[in-house]
Amino acid sequence: MTFDVSAVRAAYPALSDGYAYLDGAAGTQVPHAVIDAIADVYRVGIGNVGGAFPASHRADGIVTEGRRAVADLIGGDPGGVILGPNMTTLTYRLAHTLAAAWQPGDEVVLSRLDHDANVRPWVQAAERAGATVRWADVDIATGELPAEQYAALVSDRTRLVAVTAASNVLGTRPDVAAITATAHAVEALTYVDGVHATAHGPVDVRALGADFYATSAYKWSGPHVGAVTPTLRCSTRSARTSSLPPPTPFPSGSRPARHRSPTSPEWSPPSSTSPVWTAPRPATGAPGSWPRRPRQRPTSKRSSRSCSTGWTHCPR
Ligand SMILES: Cc1ncc(COP(=O)(O)O)c(C=O)c1O
Repeated sequence: MTFDVSAVRAAYPALSDGYAYLDGAAGTQVPHAVIDAIADVYRVGIGNVGGAFPASHRADGIVTEGRRAVADLIGGDPGGVILGPNMTTLTYRLAHTLAAAWQPGDEVVLSRLDHDANVRPWVQAAERAGATVRWADVDIATGELPAEQYAALVSDRTRLVAVTAASNVLGTRPDVAAITATAHAVEALTYVDGVHATAHGPVDVRALGADFYATSAYKWSGPHVGAVTPTLRCSTRSARTSSLPPPTPFPSGSRPARHRSPTSPEWSPPSSTSPVWTAPRPATGAPGSWPRRPRQRPTSKRSSRSCSTGWTHCPR
């Protein structure tokens, strides 16, 4: 199949100014199809999601289609896709949520190859929890992030490993599957920043071993919308002891409470298929924080455990 450069250029009205836009990190230009889709939304009535009137149903449809599109792009489950203003904001929210279960002495492993968006949320969350940050280093001669170093970085105290799937500065692509396998061997969660990588080749979040995969549509010709997709294994220690409360399925036919967004503490990942769980408000502690649960030690091999985390998505 030949790549028709002129047809592709013609799809992007901004390129008619004669400039070549090489600053991919600043985001891509946007094709007619996306501009029209956004404009069309404003030509019809639109409302908040979750209402019982046509404008709200249209909003529901847009969100559902958005989730399907992201899942299709990365090989994830549409019901698990979390949409938000950008990747950084969503990563802060996830860090806040997951770190609520971290204890002093726990560890998170970050990399010096990563964008600040996959570093600072975890550093700040670790500080609040009294957890230690351990760093994977870049090989300055090659620009690579050697995966072998992770064996020495993870331990029984590791709760999370965050790593980029591709550097937005160097373009280097760490061996994410090897890194996540090392993390999973100690039952740590993995958070993979695919913001730069997603535009540059096919993505299979499960092959990557990403418990969470983050991307941002403005890097691949969309508007600036962030998406994080959990593909959580149901039996990791971190998931079992996470701050997320046990599932509370909605009664059949009911809807999630309205006006919940990924930036509100009681938000839970919506699902296009039942069951959907919602998180009750914290009973104690500071607003927006979940009561800490006592740390559990792994007692058996995770493959033999049953799914008891409350996560809706336990594909492995
Ligand atoms: C690799 C990488 N990760 C994360 C981000 C942050 O994405 P967002 O602007 O959606 O927060 C960027 C933005 O440039 C990036 O290049």
